[in-house]
Amino acid sequence: MRAVVLHRHGGPEVLRLSRVPDPEPGPGEVRVAVEAIGLNYAEVLSRKGLYGWTPKMPYVLGMEAAGRVDRVGEGVEGIRVGDAVLVGRQAGAYAEYVVQRADAVLPVPEGFSMEEAAAFGVNYMTAWVALMKMARLLPTDRVVVTAAAGGVGTAAVQIAHHHGSEVVALAGSDPKLELARSLGAHHTVSYGVPDFEERLWDTVGERGVDVVLETVGGRVFRACDAVLAPFGRIVVAGYASLDYRWWKPHTWWRAWRDAPRMSLESMFKRSVGLLSTHLGYLLGRTAHLQPVWRELVSFVERHGIRPVVGHMLPFEEVAEAHRLMESRASKGKIVLRVRPSADQPEAR
Ligand SMILES: NC(=O)c1ccc[n+]([C@@H]2O[C@H](COP(=O)([O-])OP(=O)(O)OC[C@H]3O[C@@H](n4cnc5c(N)ncnc54)[C@H](OP(=O)(O)O)[C@@H]3O)[C@@H](O)[C@H]2O)c1
Repeated sequence: MRAVVLHRHGGPEVLRLSRVPDPEPGPGEVRVAVEAIGLNYAEVLSRKGLYGWTPKMPYVLGMEAAGRVDRVGEGVEGIRVGDAVLVGRQAGAYAEYVVQRADAVLPVPEGFSMEEAAAFGVNYMTAWVALMKMARLLPTDRVVVTAAAGGVGTAAVQIAHHHGSEVVALAGSDPKLELARSLGAHHTVSYGVPDFEERLWDTVGERGVDVVLETVGGRVFRACDAVLAPFGRIVVAGYASLDYRWWKPHTWWRAWRDAPRMSLESMFKRSVGLLSTHLGYLLGRTAHLQPVWRELVSFVERHGIRPVVGHMLPFEEVAEAHRLMESRASKGKIVLRVRPSADQPEAR
């Protein structure tokens, strides 16, 4: 099969399709013929060598994909060849076939295309866990979503909007904010302008904000922290603006300066809190995650939410897909098409 094996860190040019043996499912496992791969910013960081939650090189990059089960290992019950499923994993998803424990594949939500399924798992779980489980978002809350036009951002805007909360969407440019508005954001502010902080204050006023889902870091984190109202919660799920090179010590200082942080003194003086989540480290906590997944899928189906697939590229253009994500020009999810879908996924 063809797969993207990461042999060395570097720019998008290190991503190439190579031939590796087809994997075979062992007992309790299934093999999925991948149709669509969802790109995640974490894979850009992994490629650059800036992401901790990765296996040792060489390894096949990729955290999520959707496709159909094409082989079933010994002792597997409840999953059949042909079932439409999605997989979430530490690595291995940039491939034509993925072998996964049968109890770790998830059915494609009702009516989703394979591209939508590949755009769903990581982004929506991250947004759901951050907003609903960590921040305990209330319909009466006003919530800020940063990088609001990206994968996690669009998911968070949709979830918060359908929950009834007032959404303030932040992004790096105005065209991105139009997308956030179309998904239900009530207010939008660009952080791509010099007077971003004043504009944010003008938008939220004395009332401030109750919840922030923050994934950018640096100036954006500091501005969101400043407008947090009493009892406010910031959930940090990423810090995409932090960029450093091991061989350039001055970039370490910048990364340290821009890393999100809040002192205990600041928290108790303002009655606010800083929270954080990382889906990767939660993956092993199946008993905790399964009910959360069910809550999320039921919410999404009830509200007719569909993932925003902003860009679809053929598998061969994986390097181009990474360039697009790094350029900050992408909107919604970037999906790689691996093989054509015979038909629409079956409902569960
Ligand atoms: N904790 C978790 O479990 C978890 C899971 C998934 C993702 N994440 C995090 O959530 C964030 C979004 O991930 P995603 O996969 O959905 O990606 P994405 O939002 O589709 O793309 C990343 C976005 O980050 C923003 N950004 C800000 N500064 C940037 C910079 N210097 N370089 C590149 N992008 C920059 C850009 O939006 P603007 O131009 O609008 O700023 C860009 O479009 C990332 O920080 C990621 O690490 C966390």
